[in-house]
Parts: sequence; C-alpha cells; structure tokens
Amino acid sequence: MGISILSTGCFLPEKIVTNDDLATFLDTSDEWITTRTGIKTRHIAVGETTSTMGAKAAAQALERSGLSPDEIDLVICATVSPDVCCPMVSANIKKALQIESAATFDINVNCSSFIYAIAIASSMMQTCGYRNALIVGSDTNSQIIDWSDRSTCVLFGDGAGAAILTKDDRRGILSSHLDCIIDQDNMLYCANKIDPTPFSDHAVQGADTKVSMHGSGVMRFAIHAFHDAVEIVTQKAGVKLEDIQLIFPHQANIRILYSAAKKMGIDMDKFYVDIDKVANTSCASIPIALDLAATEGKLKRGDLIMLIAFGGGLSSGAMLLEW
Ligand code: ACO
Repeated sequence: MGISILSTGCFLPEKIVTNDDLATFLDTSDEWITTRTGIKTRHIAVGETTSTMGAKAAAQALERSGLSPDEIDLVICATVSPDVCCPMVSANIKKALQIESAATFDINVNCSSFIYAIAIASSMMQTCGYRNALIVGSDTNSQIIDWSDRSTCVLFGDGAGAAILTKDDRRGILSSHLDCIIDQDNMLYCANKIDPTPFSDHAVQGADTKVSMHGSGVMRFAIHAFHDAVEIVTQKAGVKLEDIQLIFPHQANIRILYSAAKKMGIDMDKFYVDIDKVANTSCASIPIALDLAATEGKLKRGDLIMLIAFGGGLSSGAMLLEW
C-alpha cells in the first residue's frame, strides 16, 4: 500500500494582468518579460486572501476525491504569504470545508513548501495512522512584492492549488529529496514588519518587508539544485529519466527549464509548463500545475511523475511518484 494523490484542485483569481498592463506603470515591456522569463500573464487577487483562495482550491480537491470532510485526518497549508498568523491559514481552510477535527498546521519552506508538505504528510500518515491528508499551497504574492521594483514584481502571481493524499494500492510516492543550503548573501529576502515597542526602538518597515531578489544568483542556484535533485530522486527510486512521463517544476523562469533540459539531455516536452499563464505562484506553483495537467487530461493512472522545486532559504525539494 502506497501514499498517492487521490485528487487535486486549484483556484486562480479572476483578474488577469498582462505584461502590457504592467508596462503602463513600470519601465518594462511585454518583449522583455516574455523573452527573459516566459511569462505573459498572471492572476492577481482582488478581495481574495491566501485563506479564501486556499479554501476554494481545497474544496475542489475534496469534492473530486469523493471523501467527506470527516474523512480528512490532516490539513497542511504551505504558504509564504499568510493573511493571518493566528489562527493558521490551514485552520481557516479547515473551517471553510467544515472538517470538524484534524491535525492542522501551516509550513513555510518558501517555494519548496509543497514538496516538503507532501513529505511531512506521508511520514505522518505512516506513523500516526492517518488515512487521508489535505495539502494546500496558497500565496498572495501581490501583497509581498514591491510593485515599483520591475526586476521582481513582473515575476509573480497569486493563486492556490490543493491535493488530497490517501493510502491505496498504487505505489504512490517512490522517493523524495529535501534540502536547504545557506543563503550567504540573502539572495531572496523578505522580512516581517517589526514595530517599536515600549522596550525597544528596533523596527523593520518599508522596502525590507517586500521581496528582494538577486535574480542571476537565484537562477544559478536553481539550475544547480534542479540537476542534483533529479539525480538523487531517480537514483533513490531506481528509475531512469526516460521512464518519467512528466516533470512538474516550480514555475519560476522558463530559462531555468531550458538550462535544466539541456544539462539533463531531455526534451522540453518532459516539463509541464504553465508559467506563461500564471507566473510564479510560490507555494501554489506545483499544485496548480498538477491540477491544470490533470484537468487537461495529461496525466493517467500509472504515469511516473516528478515534482521539483527550489526557492528562498535556499531550499529545494524533489519527489518521484506514481500517479
Ligand atoms: N523590464 C525591463 N528591464 C528589466 C526588468 C524588467 N522587468 N527587470 C530588470 N531589467 C533590466 C535590469 O535593470 C538590467 O538592466 P541593466 O543591464 O541596465 O542594469 C537588465 O534588465 C538585465 O537584468 P538582469 O537581472 O541581468 O536580467 P536577467 O537576464 O538575469 O533576468 C530575472 C532577471 C528574470 C529576474 C532572472 O534573473 C531570473 O528569473 N532569476 C531567477 C529568479 C527565480 O527563479 N526566482 C524565483 C525562485 S524562488 C521563488 O520562487 C521565491
């Protein structure tokens, strides 16, 4: 008996922002963004929050699973942009779905979070006797980016994706690899706001509370981490790259995928790509891609798939599983 993905769901906010829309208030162009990143549009939350988007994606995954809310034993939300710190985003999602009682928590491993969350859930399913887990990735990046910084804000979008994990007779998760190396230079950085108190005048405000990024450094790390992670998960599972039907990479920049494909000697068709439509949705990136691929009929039972992510920390993760 393995731990497998039973169903998926996703939610993308209604508002679509094009590169030309960004060029109305930034010194940028559709040509620059498209050729440097592969991004054409992104969805931006208007009124939605990380909790409400996560709940909508989770509700869709739950409905498609055929399970009732009381059959969910564990709820994990992966997010770098929680709309609340108390209660947890996962508690809001659980409440919206009327899941009466379940172990519930949020995690933040930046853009690698969803793979970490599946790995944590599968371990808990093995050790705590849980049968079904709801894993959500949801991010409102539009709240944590600096809309005057053209080198970062054009890269991100908002959205949520979800998956239900279950124990069944498929092989499910075959191998995983989680890592985090020291980010000596804070290549990806976003601080929480700190206000002075009656006892301290220490404060963190303004630009430091928005995402800043050393783009080319992150890109070099991502290409390196990508290659290593693929080698490790395939070796651990005793699987060859050619046996994998589809790879779901974190959607950060199409050029990272071109480099990875070249380095690994594989065709770009091996990658599921939606960055052109949704941009980088941080923790939601992989579950959104999984859900879009599933609803487009690109996944069939028994397919071997790989998930790969990298992000702030500098974290990375990969997982090989049978669909
Ligand atoms: N429009 C027009 N010009 C721009 C823009 C823009 N939106 N942004 C930057 N430029 C300019 C720069 O100012 C620079 O100008 P200069 O030469 O006059 O100084 C020039 O374009 C080139 O800038 P570079 O930073 O060298 O461009 P690069 O080719 O490296 O692309 C990018 C930048 C897209 C950010 C790239 O480095 C990248 O995608 N890096 C990886 C980012 C990533 O993976 N992030 C996510 C991972 S983690 C996470 O998801 C949170």
